[in-house]
Amino acid sequence: MNANFAQEFVSDDPEALREIGELLKRTIDIGLAFKARKAFFVPGEGKAQNEVMTESLPVDPLPLAAVLSELQTAYLPGMTNFGSPRFLGFPDAGNSASALAGAILGELLNVNLINSTFCARVATEMEIATIRWMRAVVGYPEVRVMESAADVGGMVLTGGTMANYTAVLIARERAAPGTMVNGISYDPGKLRVVIPESIGHYTVAASMAWAGLGSGNIIRVPIRDFRYDQAALGRTLEEVRERGEKVAMVVAYAGDSRTMTIEDLVGVHDLVRSFDASVWLHCDGCHGTSLSFSAKLRDRLAGIELWDSITLDPHKVLAVPYPISLLLVRDPAGAASILTESDLIMRQAMSLGQMTPVLGSKAFLALRLWVAMKTLGTRGLGRMVEERCALAQRFADLVDSHPELMRINSVQINSVVFVYVPQGVRLPMSETEAEALSTLNRHIYERILREGEFYIHSFVGVDSLNMLGCGADFRLNVLRYMSGNPITTTETLDEAIEYIVTLGRAAVLRTE
Ligand SMILES: Cc1ncc(COP(=O)(O)O)c(C=O)c1O
Repeated sequence: MNANFAQEFVSDDPEALREIGELLKRTIDIGLAFKARKAFFVPGEGKAQNEVMTESLPVDPLPLAAVLSELQTAYLPGMTNFGSPRFLGFPDAGNSASALAGAILGELLNVNLINSTFCARVATEMEIATIRWMRAVVGYPEVRVMESAADVGGMVLTGGTMANYTAVLIARERAAPGTMVNGISYDPGKLRVVIPESIGHYTVAASMAWAGLGSGNIIRVPIRDFRYDQAALGRTLEEVRERGEKVAMVVAYAGDSRTMTIEDLVGVHDLVRSFDASVWLHCDGCHGTSLSFSAKLRDRLAGIELWDSITLDPHKVLAVPYPISLLLVRDPAGAASILTESDLIMRQAMSLGQMTPVLGSKAFLALRLWVAMKTLGTRGLGRMVEERCALAQRFADLVDSHPELMRINSVQINSVVFVYVPQGVRLPMSETEAEALSTLNRHIYERILREGEFYIHSFVGVDSLNMLGCGADFRLNVLRYMSGNPITTTETLDEAIEYIVTLGRAAVLRTE
């Protein structure tokens, strides 16, 4: 705290207000300078990570101004800046001015969305409005009667993980009604959740673990071109039925986290429904649901409105700062099936705390999206998403026209997965050559990470389009550009390509 107590706590004292205002302005200036920094991080500057975590317990007070200065000079240089135009690994830029205004104001208001009367009057209604707007954006039916939180048909949550977990709980309750109250009476080995192999997100298996379904009971169905192989999906559903088991949930991706491929949402919906109309269909659209803001791109999500639940992570795809994710539920009764009650705090009909599993107190996270939606409108957000997709296409063209780079996915949203291939390497590759190529690309990534100049992501991906010629199930270390930051320019992309190729040439391909 400040040495001077009077200037530590906000009050209506004009002198304290002025001083605190100055310090908070300074705080914002430091944050903005950090965001405006081009370098992803500055290696070697500021305190070492070991030094940071072993610092001694602060006992004597210091002025806030001194703490802020130390933060800026000693801690921020080593921190990674997702708002940098050279952060090319993920779209989570968090640099929308309107969203930042909403986030900062949300902190200042400090309302608690657990309860709708004394904790979050008006804020509750703003959060509900945000969910209604998003339901309209994805094409869900309008909820006409809104008498309680159970009618809202969606939740504002802390992230995609939480949204997927909530969807799993809803699916479990549908497959085994009464579990919320009576506990587990089903045989977990007989209640299955289906995801696509190799591209499914780890959070689904984790959610099954947390929900008492057992992560081991997940079924991974083979893919073709980064989507469900529908013949294999049909066989899986048939086998599950023959074994006397039940599929509680099928998960599909509107933008899987690696390649951003969009599932055939109509085809998979129809196929699953033809087997069992009660299966919960969950579309993890943490990334891809954003296309529904654009009149030009919305068609790529055809059928999304048929799915029982849909996620969207504004903190990934709308330049909104962490954290905020939405889970939208087509029929609000689904969400209502996992409602919890408390006499002490949530007994008012509109208290949104009833609807969010695990969370008690919840900050006004919706405000960051509310302000962004009001300010940019769906038109502005749509334009942002369109420009992002165009930038990814531009990077794909640069990769395709470079003799030492090879793209291994088809670009449907904003992810370009590629590898550096030294000159002279011929296709198809032998497995030994492809393994060596994988190691070489890992080395490129390690150097990117050390230097902090740019950030390009890397992971072990499957070559589903069989670009290397070692089979569609061959796995290798790949590089990945994902567009998202609206301030990244085509010049930045040119520089990034040059940088990667320079690193690639410096790395050695060893096949012996
Ligand atoms: C498709 C998908 N779903 C869920 C998640 C989890 O989101 P979060 O990290 O916000 O919890 C991610 C994150 O990368 C994702 O890409």
